[in-house]
Amino acid sequence: MTAIAIEFDSLVKQFGKQRAVDKLTAKVSSGRITGFLGPNGAGKSTTLRCLVGLSAPTEGSAKILGAAYKDLANPLTRVGTVLDSRGFHPSLTGKQNLKVVAAAAGISDSRVDEVLAMVELTDASGKKVKNYSLGMKQRLALAGAILGDPEILILDEPANGLDPAGIAWLRNFLRNLAHGGRTILVSSHQLAEMQNTVDDVLIINKGALIAQGTIEEVTQGSTLEEAFLKLTGGQLS
Ligand SMILES: Nc1ncnc2c1ncn2[C@@H]1O[C@H](COP(=O)(O)OP(=O)(O)OP(=O)(O)O)[C@@H](O)[C@H]1O
Ligand SMILES: [Mg+2]
Repeated sequence: MTAIAIEFDSLVKQFGKQRAVDKLTAKVSSGRITGFLGPNGAGKSTTLRCLVGLSAPTEGSAKILGAAYKDLANPLTRVGTVLDSRGFHPSLTGKQNLKVVAAAAGISDSRVDEVLAMVELTDASGKKVKNYSLGMKQRLALAGAILGDPEILILDEPANGLDPAGIAWLRNFLRNLAHGGRTILVSSHQLAEMQNTVDDVLIINKGALIAQGTIEEVTQGSTLEEAFLKLTGGQLS
């Protein structure tokens, strides 16, 4: 039996009359990379926001390591998140932004330098974040996510804004993190890229689960894009 890192149990999120997440029940295995896929508006970001306590579920639950995110002790060292790369202070440098987060969590400045090097931002670390490109902000967000060396990473479209070299870099970066035994739940629309990166797949459409399994089980010999389009009724991702 594989250990379960993340568990959704009949998760519902309702915005007025709209059901953004519709009774989602699914499990994410430890030590694996799981691709979280679905068309625009399928409910991926809402699900991930419920998972880390940024949004309250209407019904059901979303648990990490058996608990609600808010109940985890030292969450930064257990779970790293990239949900929105706009959360940084624009007038501070990349390094200053990370130092603020590190100080609040009792993490050393040397670790800040280490993660900046890991995301290849050392040279730009003294620049103000308002002068960062979108891809640089994404890298900084990834650096922030790994600051506490967490065992679980929850990433909402981390490839957004990355150039082709950056996307290839992200693939290796995620693989290296997973080889170290970490669990990664990552949403993306880049299906060809996902096919080369993930072990497992979770696909939702209109808030509901439509497929879950290993990449081989879900694709059954076709490409991930073909399987995705078939499962979601041909809506372009
Ligand atoms: N704060 C909110 N208030 C009202 N409706 C919302 C809110 N957040 C999300 N929604 C709605 O919930 C649905 C799911 O949105 P969500 O952002 O979770 O989708 P997504 O799968 O992340 O899409 P994308 O691939 O475009 O990022 C959408 O119809 C969206 O309009
Ligand atoms: Mg989204």
